[in-house]
Amino acid sequence: MTMVDIIEKKKNGEELNVDEINYWITNYCADKIPDYQVSSLLMAICIRGMNAMETFYLTQAMLNSGKTLNLSSIPGIKCDKHSTGGVGDKTSLVLCPLVASLGIKIAKMSGRGLGFTGGTLDKLESIPGVNVEMPVDQFLDIVNTCGMAIVGQSEELVPADKKLYALRDVTGTVESIPLIASSIMSKKLASGSDCILLDVKYGKGAFMKTKEEAEKLAQEMVKIGTYFHKDTRAEITSMDQPLGYAIGNILEVKEAIDTLKGRGPKDFVDLCLTSATTMLFQAKLFNDKRKTREALERNIANGRAFEVFKSFIRAEGGDVSYLDNPSKFPTAMYSYPIRSMKNGYISEIDTLNLGLISMHLGAGREKKNDVIDMAAGIVLNKKLGDKVNKGDLLLTLYTERSNMQAYETSALNCFSFSQDVVPVAPTVEELITYDQDKDEFSITKN
Ligand code: URA
Repeated sequence: MTMVDIIEKKKNGEELNVDEINYWITNYCADKIPDYQVSSLLMAICIRGMNAMETFYLTQAMLNSGKTLNLSSIPGIKCDKHSTGGVGDKTSLVLCPLVASLGIKIAKMSGRGLGFTGGTLDKLESIPGVNVEMPVDQFLDIVNTCGMAIVGQSEELVPADKKLYALRDVTGTVESIPLIASSIMSKKLASGSDCILLDVKYGKGAFMKTKEEAEKLAQEMVKIGTYFHKDTRAEITSMDQPLGYAIGNILEVKEAIDTLKGRGPKDFVDLCLTSATTMLFQAKLFNDKRKTREALERNIANGRAFEVFKSFIRAEGGDVSYLDNPSKFPTAMYSYPIRSMKNGYISEIDTLNLGLISMHLGAGREKKNDVIDMAAGIVLNKKLGDKVNKGDLLLTLYTERSNMQAYETSALNCFSFSQDVVPVAPTVEELITYDQDKDEFSITKN
């Protein structure tokens, strides 16, 4: 078997067998297959797809490329969550401490920025001192003592995803259901939690553009998780506008701090509370929505969720004085305020383009070894449905790069207006679960 045979087979739309998938992943991790051949196969998969069995074998091969954590030394039910990625998606920074503040342990493996979306690891590393690569024992210790920890893929944990993820980011091979499903599920299964909540985003600012695609991705992942005996559920959430107001690493960390202190944007707070409720139901700590929400809101108001955030950031080497005093974070050298040229209600936001602009401003990588500018990004002043008058501030671009004026017009063009009031749908639209005995999915509308 050679890598060229495997590429040719997928190029012709044929199904890869388990041996071929194992050959690819094992030899790539051993540095015996070059990036250019793997990029070619990834592109063939993006175009030709993979069936459920191939996706399952790929997930298993990626999972087996490293260690699987055994969390049995940590008492109680362990939960994990993962989002398929969106613009301004800082959910893990708030949701994980919030759930952990009620006693549920969170052992989470995250990723870096991918394409036009940001990544939790980059956001965490924008806090001076944070180190997301650590030995397994240290990770378990932090989960035990702080109630939560977030770690990156490493040579020990899902090394296949570490390599593939970085390659997909810069080869236009992110948007593929089997590649996203195997990337996410290999990480979730390796980190060993009992329950997994998936946030599958769709819309202009997500990899899945339609609800149908998001449901298909969600169903594949929920089925894989259930097959591995994990309580796996998926939310379908809208990404037709950035989540919250901030896009970009430091800007999003600051918004997460505000949210943990009870001053979060409505759409982001709603997403965190809804997801936290589902996770607490999965952990069987609560079964009543109203009581769960009250408990969550209480732990924001009394500062417990923020304390968990601080304690895990400290344990991962971060300087928590930045969390107590966010004005210590560096700010970008240049800022470009952009004002509306029209009156009306905001009817559409080109979220994909805002994500791309943020990347070009320095908040994401265009090439594999690019260094992120942590202070770069965008802060919106207006969201979908908001009434705007000519001259109102719509958004501000932040960057260390000079001569970025060209992005002012494209950022302005990301907003469309209507003269009529624009209704805004809730962010979380549905919850998908799977009954393995009946081989049936159920969809509950929010
Ligand atoms: N998140 C991941 O971890 N992997 C993907 O492929 C997309 C989002």
